[in-house]
Amino acid sequence: MEVRHAIQERRSIRRFKSDAVPVADIEKMVYAASLAPSGGNMQPWQFLAITNKECRDALARIIHDEGVKFSHDMGQAMPHFIVTSLVFTTAPLVFAVMMTPFPLEEDSWFQAFRKRKNLEGRSIDRYGGFVSVMGVAAAIENLLLTAYDLGYGSCWVRIPYYAKDALERFLNIEAPRELVALLPVGIADTNPRMPPRKPIQDIFALVE
Ligand SMILES: Cc1cc2nc3c(=O)[nH]c(=O)nc-3n(C[C@H](O)[C@H](O)[C@H](O)COP(=O)(O)O)c2cc1C
Repeated sequence: MEVRHAIQERRSIRRFKSDAVPVADIEKMVYAASLAPSGGNMQPWQFLAITNKECRDALARIIHDEGVKFSHDMGQAMPHFIVTSLVFTTAPLVFAVMMTPFPLEEDSWFQAFRKRKNLEGRSIDRYGGFVSVMGVAAAIENLLLTAYDLGYGSCWVRIPYYAKDALERFLNIEAPRELVALLPVGIADTNPRMPPRKPIQDIFALVE
C-alpha cells in the first residue's frame, strides 16, 4: 500500500470486531513503531500489547471507577469525557504506550542556562523537554499507519489524567517511565468519514 493512501484513509476507529490480532501482526506494528525518528535516537518508547481480556476489562474498570470517583469529588455527574476515554473496550488488542522522558532537567548545561537567564520555575517543555513526546508520537503514527496497512482499525487515545496514576500502578509502570497513550487495534466495525481538516492555506506559509 502507498504510504500516501494509508495517511489519507486511516481513520480513528472506536468500535471493533472481536477477531483476534495474530502475534505476527502485532510484531509488524511494533517494528514499524521502532523505525520512527527520535531525538538523539534515544527511542524513548515501549509498548505493552494487551490481548488478555481480563486485563483489558480491568483497564476500562479503572478508568470508569477513577472517573466516577473524581466527578464525585467535584460534586458533579460523570462527565462525557470519561465515556470517550473508554473507546478501547471492544478492541481485541490494546497497546499501552510508555515513554521515558528526556532528562533535560539533569543536563548541567541546561541547568546553567536556566540559572543564567533567570528561568527557574518555567516549564521545561518550553526548552525542549518534550523531545521524548515527539519521538513517541512519531512511533505511534507509524504503528497506526501499519495497522491500517494490515487491515486493522485503531484509535489514538490519550491517558485520562484522573486515572493515570491508577493505570500506571496496575500496569507496573514505574518512574521514569510513564504511560502516555492507549491504542485499541482490531478489525473495524464502523466506517467513519474523515472529520474536517483545516485548509492547508490556513496552516502554512511559504517563505520564498
Ligand atoms: C494525542 C491524541 C489524543 C487523542 N485522544 C483521543 C481520545 O482520548 N479519545 C478518542 O476517542 N479519540 C482520541 N484521539 C483521536 C482524535 O479524536 C482523532 O484523531 C481526530 O478526531 C481526527 O480523526 P481521524 O483520526 O479519524 O482522522 C486522539 C488523537 C490524538 C492524536
